Amino acid sequence: MLKAGWHRVFFTCVLLGVGAALAASQPKSRYRDPDTERKIDSLISLMTIEEKLGQLSQHTGNRDAETGKVALTAQQRELIEGGHTGSFLGGLGLEVSREIQNIAVNKSRLGIPVIFGHDIIHGYRTIFPIPLAEAGSFDPEAVELAARIAAREATAMGLHWTFAPMVDIARDPRWGRIAEGSGEDPYLGSVMASARVRGFQGKDYSDPTTLVACAKHFVAYGAAEAGRDYNVADISERTLREVYLPPFKAAVDEGVGTLMSAFNEIGGIPASAHRGTLTDILRTEWGFKGFVVSDWTSVLELLEHGIAATPAEAALKALTAGVEMEMVSDLYRKELPLLVRNGTLPENVLNEAVRRVLRVKFAVGLFEDRFRNDDEQRHKKEILLPDHVASARAIAGRSIVLLKNQSDLLPLKKDVKTIAVIGPLADSRHEPLGPWHAEGRSQDVVSLLEGIRKAVSSKTKVLFSRGCDSTFVGTSGFAEALRVAGQADVVVLVVGERLEMSGEAASRSDIGLPGVQLDLVKQIHAVGKPVVLVLMNGRPLTIPWEAEHVPAILETWFLGIQSGNAIADVLFGDVNPAARLPVSFPRNVGQIPIHYDHRNTGRPPGDSKYTSKYLDVPNSPLFPFGHGLSYTTFEYENLKVTGTKIKRGEPIEVSVTVKNTGRRDGDEVVQLYIRDVVGSVTRPVKQLKGFERVFIPAGMSKTVKFKLTGDALSFYDINMKNTIEPGMFKVFVGGSSVDGLATEFEVVN
Ligand code: NOJ
Repeated sequence: MLKAGWHRVFFTCVLLGVGAALAASQPKSRYRDPDTERKIDSLISLMTIEEKLGQLSQHTGNRDAETGKVALTAQQRELIEGGHTGSFLGGLGLEVSREIQNIAVNKSRLGIPVIFGHDIIHGYRTIFPIPLAEAGSFDPEAVELAARIAAREATAMGLHWTFAPMVDIARDPRWGRIAEGSGEDPYLGSVMASARVRGFQGKDYSDPTTLVACAKHFVAYGAAEAGRDYNVADISERTLREVYLPPFKAAVDEGVGTLMSAFNEIGGIPASAHRGTLTDILRTEWGFKGFVVSDWTSVLELLEHGIAATPAEAALKALTAGVEMEMVSDLYRKELPLLVRNGTLPENVLNEAVRRVLRVKFAVGLFEDRFRNDDEQRHKKEILLPDHVASARAIAGRSIVLLKNQSDLLPLKKDVKTIAVIGPLADSRHEPLGPWHAEGRSQDVVSLLEGIRKAVSSKTKVLFSRGCDSTFVGTSGFAEALRVAGQADVVVLVVGERLEMSGEAASRSDIGLPGVQLDLVKQIHAVGKPVVLVLMNGRPLTIPWEAEHVPAILETWFLGIQSGNAIADVLFGDVNPAARLPVSFPRNVGQIPIHYDHRNTGRPPGDSKYTSKYLDVPNSPLFPFGHGLSYTTFEYENLKVTGTKIKRGEPIEVSVTVKNTGRRDGDEVVQLYIRDVVGSVTRPVKQLKGFERVFIPAGMSKTVKFKLTGDALSFYDINMKNTIEPGMFKVFVGGSSVDGLATEFEVVN
């Protein structure tokens, strides 16, 4: 069995190896170098208004619908030569990027290099689990490593900049983009945001194996009403500050180079023209020094939102609110020269925007090596390296959540006589790539069927039947699937979503298993054989029937290229699962939005009719945030806090002893929650404030210590001032948001 402790050693070694180049170069302050600032100023003084606006304009290559190849048009070549573009996005390929850079550097008047960006979300060619799955590992080191490897591969392909991490908190699983983030919790989301920024950017992003990161989508995109993508978010300032802003703040504190403005509006103001968030909070409060890029055509969309009557007005509103670079819609370049000339847009505002873009280009090292990352050899050498693939397998294994395991059905024996692998996703080499899989290819993916075939003994018979195809319609394959199930000792039933059912523009109003799959599950279950349900999906699903009747359920999300091996590792016990849900699973869609850190209300659910509850379903989720089982068991004891009275602002130490009471070694995700009992405003019933994934050998105990600093106890009070209020606090420590030990302490003045 691969011990969890082994993974830690492995990750550390790989991180050290991948970071070797980093160690050689001294980390330097990214933006405060006065010499660079002088160079930027003198460059700006040479630029025409058109060249300045060019730096603020991002374009994309033209993809041939038939060949899939990108090529430049004559018009685009002219644009680059004229210095009218600052950036290109998309998977252009080395040849096209080289052509673009060649024109920009050698033919444009000032030779300012172009910065190349692309969506490197969970891997470049070595595809890792989708971000939601990785967040469930509760392992920031693993998440950092995945981002580090993605950066190493993507930079070998000429890229400088990734539109990631996506740090939107999402509490509505109907919203397809929940797959791209870290789930419902601002604390977990912040830890993962920092880890990903560290992974992409390294210590110094002038290192040619690092990418500039982009925290997106600023802000409250995940609060889309009714979970419908691009829909409005109407939230209070408190919710904005408590829930949606923290992961962005964490990314900024980690030194993220760029942010992307969102598509949604917040209380009537589109995020891409929202001065309050883009300037007042991001720059004035947080001191952000990088630049903001709009989302795809989100500047033009200010017209549809109805806050601009003309394209010129849309461009003016976005730029003056704090969107420095416009993605694709090209209004800055076309509309703003006139407004600068007639004084509507002050030239110093334009200069400041250009300064921010150039600052990032300097920090990337583009002025020192204008063809940075254009290296055929690196491309050949650094994609899909064996240690990348091994990390993908290990991280996928660390992201699998064991939701249910009645009578210890799992792990299965490798020498089981006959195993039936059934389901439309069982042999898929495409769906495990998940949404936004960059250069990920099916040919690199290990399907679950392949993973199982490799894992079982030579004597085991593996039977396979799809049941239905991946459109999930039609029951004509059921008979064969039932026949196969009837011959087996155990059935592994693999169902879920297609990859394009989550991600952008992929909201669903019904989040049960799509199509005929629930019928398939019911009929296979009725055969009477032990069934292990393996779910592949990009969001929480409503699976009440499945949870009640099927004895064992694994949530595998979309795990990337090593999906089949990683799931087989867990199915047969080579890896003991320990991941947790980064988001609650509702019982039905009517419970949405549902999250563990809700308020108590004046009428918490009770026996009386007149309490806050439903007539037809409990308030609790089907599976709570933080839930996940193991093949071993853990007990918590000895929960201690530094003292019963703590002086306001002083750090607090919480410790707990966790014992592995089962017969297998395993990891436990120890979670610490607090509740501020009485405040000047209401506080959530629980808030995650710390976690640690620890490896504990069978029969052994470990004492886990948490240090709570002022930040953990503070909140925005009745005057929206961030403060710690004296009074009682409860502390809960356990293996999920609903289990564990509790104690309390008082904060005094
Ligand atoms: C639109 C998406 O919302 C954003 O996340 C992505 O980075 C851009 N398109 C560029 O592909």
